[in-house]
Amino acid sequence: MEILTDTVLVIFGITGDLARRKLLPALYHLAEEAMLPATFHITGISRQSTSVADILALIKARTGKDESTAPAVFARLEKMLSIVHMNIGDPTDYDRLSAELGRIEENAGRAMNRLFYLAIPASLFDTVTARLAEKDFNVHEKGNRECRFLIEKPFGFDLASAKELIAGLASRFDESQIYRIDHYLAKETAQNILAFRFENPLFCGTWNRNHISHIMITAVESIGIEGRTAFYENMGAMRDLVQSHLLQLLALVTMNKPASMSSDDIHRQKEILLAHIRPPDRALMERDTVRAQYASYREEAGNPDSLTETYAALRLSIDTEEWRGVPVFIRTGKALREKITEITLVFSSLRSPGKKNYLTIRIQPNEGIVIDLHIKKPGFASEIEQVQLDFCYTDMLNASHPDAYERVLVDAMRGDRSLFATSDEVLSCWRISEPVLTAWSEDGFPLSVYENNSWGPETADRMIQAAGLEWLSDTHTVCSTPRIIARNV
Ligand code: BG6
Repeated sequence: MEILTDTVLVIFGITGDLARRKLLPALYHLAEEAMLPATFHITGISRQSTSVADILALIKARTGKDESTAPAVFARLEKMLSIVHMNIGDPTDYDRLSAELGRIEENAGRAMNRLFYLAIPASLFDTVTARLAEKDFNVHEKGNRECRFLIEKPFGFDLASAKELIAGLASRFDESQIYRIDHYLAKETAQNILAFRFENPLFCGTWNRNHISHIMITAVESIGIEGRTAFYENMGAMRDLVQSHLLQLLALVTMNKPASMSSDDIHRQKEILLAHIRPPDRALMERDTVRAQYASYREEAGNPDSLTETYAALRLSIDTEEWRGVPVFIRTGKALREKITEITLVFSSLRSPGKKNYLTIRIQPNEGIVIDLHIKKPGFASEIEQVQLDFCYTDMLNASHPDAYERVLVDAMRGDRSLFATSDEVLSCWRISEPVLTAWSEDGFPLSVYENNSWGPETADRMIQAAGLEWLSDTHTVCSTPRIIARNV
């Protein structure tokens, strides 16, 4: 698969939160690593009088680099950047963008591929995609002038709006042109899940309900909403993290082996698995789900009555031969003590009741995979202790790996759609999430409050304790010292 040379990346929302935090730094690193072809061009769309110098200043602020520390990279970026000032909600303003694309092609002396990156509010989605579907933009000619559309979540607000969004896009573009970004899929350790599972015979036969008693997925963040009030008040943790990133991770960890590692085969198995995930029944929603809010949230959001959850915990099940009866516990939240994303599979056996091996896939930070084992403590006594068998990226010589957004951009340039979500995946994730959201929207459904900088609400601890378990991350160290951890064996 070749990287698209002769490409213009058009970024809608170049001064927005996502561009500042993720996209622009990713472009900086790709330029630094010489991953952007000489004929690459970036056009930012901005309503205000933003200049190229302003965009470079955003990059400097985020990367801590400047012309004195990285002169060649900044010279390249300055050369490849241009800005079009327009109101993206006004279809007549698009003539400016069309003229800019024409100018870039004229300078290049040949047709340029077009990557449109839509980091825009959902309310503008229809107007923008309708205009981009017209002839002056969507001039898709395979192998000559390819037009691809990268879209950011949220893909809808609920099942009905997601269906509408998908149908709207399908009426405008070919499915092969649409790249639905879920940047968690592009994280290095997430990509390693399938390789680890299917390249190691040790696990192929044991990765199922006969050997695994339960699965836990944790994605906690120490940051709060960081000024994204309008977005977050509307979304909440369930729509922001669970409906997308966490269900995708669950699919990777439980899907059946694809016929090949091609994008189509991987998506086929992922779609089958997602179609079999079951949310709790309505009668069990209060036992098996928790919604909560961090203590300072209402003040920060400027809404004393807000019921938006900044924390979600839930118990799901998977109705397949491989996973029937294995509970899956998911939790996510903001303003918590640490940032940790990890998946833990708990191996246990009826033949050794009470003995467990924890296999943890740490997505971030301290990326790696560790297995907790029981061994005899060296010495005369016959004591058992717990140690970790680990593979830690930090111990590897070439441990540096591309950031998820670098990977997203490179894969879109390559035309590799494996790490992007299909429409069926998106719809399944809504089908799983919607009953929970509906129950939570009913009057009187409990909303717990948790202290900022804590490990979350007590209600979430009680939820998992009711199943005779405990959340792991609080005491469980992964890929960082100390390696020996205390837990009763
Ligand atoms: C985004 C969410 O999709 O993921 C944010 O909208 C969240 O609320 C972010 O903070 C987390 O991403 P990462 O890569 O920092 O774990």
